[in-house]
Amino acid sequence: MSKTLDYPHKPVMVNEVIRFLVTVSEGVYVDATVGSGGHSEAIGKEISSKGRLICLDRDPEAVRLSRERLSHLGERVTLINANYAELSEILEGLGIEKVNGILLDLGFSSYQIEQSGRGFSFNRDEPLDMRMDPGDEVTAQQMINNLSANEIKRILRDYGEEKRAGIISRSIERERKKGPITSSLQLAELVRSVIPSSYRPGVIDPATRTFQALRIAVNRETENIKIFLDKVPPLFAKGGRLVFLSYHSLEDRMVKQKMAGWEKGCTCPPDFPECACGKTPLFKRVNRKGIRPDKGETKDNPRARSAMLRASERI
Ligand SMILES: C[S@@+](CC[C@H](N)C(=O)[O-])C[C@H]1O[C@@H](n2cnc3c(N)ncnc32)[C@H](O)[C@@H]1O
Repeated sequence: MSKTLDYPHKPVMVNEVIRFLVTVSEGVYVDATVGSGGHSEAIGKEISSKGRLICLDRDPEAVRLSRERLSHLGERVTLINANYAELSEILEGLGIEKVNGILLDLGFSSYQIEQSGRGFSFNRDEPLDMRMDPGDEVTAQQMINNLSANEIKRILRDYGEEKRAGIISRSIERERKKGPITSSLQLAELVRSVIPSSYRPGVIDPATRTFQALRIAVNRETENIKIFLDKVPPLFAKGGRLVFLSYHSLEDRMVKQKMAGWEKGCTCPPDFPECACGKTPLFKRVNRKGIRPDKGETKDNPRARSAMLRASERI
């Protein structure tokens, strides 16, 4: 039996994910970001004894948690500590040519923010690490203390859409002259101290965007999404579906543009003004506008507030 209540991360839009993803009960499915296994547990309930579920996560702790949670699925489930950017190679290694569905639930898990001790939260005093894969070389601390103020400004602006990127990066540069910035709380307090209360939109903490940007940079999140999207189309069986859950506009834009391109059969870059390749469509979008969680879910799970679900089907 699985122990649903023990796991800190509530899977987002789980009913919608299952409705869009699982179309064949004996099919092969991939949960490319298994986290603590909430979505996978729900997928496991939908597939038959002939179905198969391949789960990846680059965080070994997530794989450990999910292995325990999904053990009741026996041989139907395969868990691998890996980056989803390498999915084609992983499936090839497993002898799987085509899949019926792939789920990517982007961002970080509640486990990582609340229990990993790796500095993902601006409310905790932890080493400024932020690596999802502890085997990666560069930590947030190394970035914050070694990159030039201009590079930090670019990261905050591009990955956090932080309007005060210049002020924050200059204050980081001043602070680190006194001694290295080593903890998540130290960085959060620094950002809070330079953003005046009159410039604090809504209820979000002023450090939110800085932490988001650093996490994306440390884990090379946009690069991984791009590699994945470029390589994924040939992996689908006819009728196979790709379901994406993203949590900020940068990720969502990449997914939306790529799905729109596939629908046209287009291989032109996303910013190309007019498609000129004239290829036949590869996919159709299952939901053209994307879906957001309902009010009941966002009340129960504030993390779901910014979620956007998009799905495409191989035709
Ligand atoms: C939002 S959580 C997934 C939660 C999961 N759906 C659940 O129900 O528990 C995102 C997960 O993606 C993982 N992740 C992020 N980037 C990854 C990558 N490039 N490859 C594999 N896993 C990745 C993170 O380590 C994290 O565990």
